[in-house]
Amino acid sequence: MSDNCCIVLDRLVEGAPRPEDFRLERRPLPEPGAGEMLVRNLFASVDPGSRGRLSGRASYAPPLRPGQVMEAQTVGLVVQSDGGRFAEGDLVAGALGLREFAVTKGRGMRRIADWEQPISTAIGIYGTPGMTAYFGMLDVGQPEPGQTVLVSAAAGTVGSAAGQLAALRGARVVGIAGGAEKCRYLREALGFAGAIDYKAADDLADAIGETCPDGVDVYFDNVGGVILQTALGHMADGGRIVICGQISQYNREGTAPEGLVDPHPFIYRRLRMQGFVVFDYADRFEAARREMRGWIEAGRLQFREHVLDGLERAPEAYSGLFQGENFGRGLVRIGELA
Ligand SMILES: NC(=O)c1ccc[n+]([C@@H]2O[C@H](COP(=O)([O-])OP(=O)(O)OC[C@H]3O[C@@H](n4cnc5c(N)ncnc54)[C@H](OP(=O)(O)O)[C@@H]3O)[C@@H](O)[C@H]2O)c1
Repeated sequence: MSDNCCIVLDRLVEGAPRPEDFRLERRPLPEPGAGEMLVRNLFASVDPGSRGRLSGRASYAPPLRPGQVMEAQTVGLVVQSDGGRFAEGDLVAGALGLREFAVTKGRGMRRIADWEQPISTAIGIYGTPGMTAYFGMLDVGQPEPGQTVLVSAAAGTVGSAAGQLAALRGARVVGIAGGAEKCRYLREALGFAGAIDYKAADDLADAIGETCPDGVDVYFDNVGGVILQTALGHMADGGRIVICGQISQYNREGTAPEGLVDPHPFIYRRLRMQGFVVFDYADRFEAARREMRGWIEAGRLQFREHVLDGLERAPEAYSGLFQGENFGRGLVRIGELA
């Protein structure tokens, strides 16, 4: 244990992120001070939402500067604790970034439960993406039995969980995803009523019309852009649009955003649209995790993980998110527990 591999931002990102926008650096192993812990990270996530911090412009979080460690959610083992919040040997989830070791006071971190298995689920289905699906669909979308729910990036981490949660509420769920394999998974493994391959569809509007003949009561939007505008044209009276993410727009800074160009349907269809930030629901995460656990253990809620081995593969994993290369929660394995 002499040094600490980290993935740092090499240069500000323009357009789609590329692996060359990052570099691997070896830094000295940090030492915990009083009230701090040294954590050895085992898994780290790659998240589309991080894109907003990589262009040097302020968003809801301050921009990352070249030379700074790339942000990521992490699951790790406390290897040293100098009176820190957690004890040596505890498995903890947090956001310690793409690095092997981190010193932390433990703010915003939690000890993961024994039943969060595999442990990577602590930053997947039991972590931010799972919570985003839960609160975005159930609190904001509020699907009702028999209603039609349309989800974009539906084979992704948030989308696949959001669609299944709507189905658990008795809704008829249709997913939009890129590629035949992802669409087959939505129909055959997750039991979605329909799946649209937006990369292959000749006409997305026709495809939505055919799969949602009674209109869309809840559209759960992970992508924005043209797909959002097209879905808007198929909303049913009184429908709700949940703005969860806008991944199709994240690489378009400096160009005119695509998306809603004609809000007319909001008037004659009496629609509502609402965005949300998952962390606003933090005081309810524990209860949501327990409910999700019940569904997962009963085989009623499934999830996939897309794990690349080695911290050095994180830049590849991250840029792959924007090409749809991940099929499940995007993760890198940094080390083994033993
Ligand atoms: N509101 C919140 O608090 C909150 C919290 C967490 C995440 N989010 C958002 O939730 C969304 C999903 O996140 P996630 O972690 O679950 O990611 P993910 O779905 O696991 O990965 C991203 C997926 O998006 C799809 N995609 C990429 N570029 C696209 C494009 N131009 N057009 C259409 N689809 C595209 C790809 O799937 P295909 O192969 O299907 O194209 C890709 O696999 C993101 O927009 C994220 O920012 C919001």
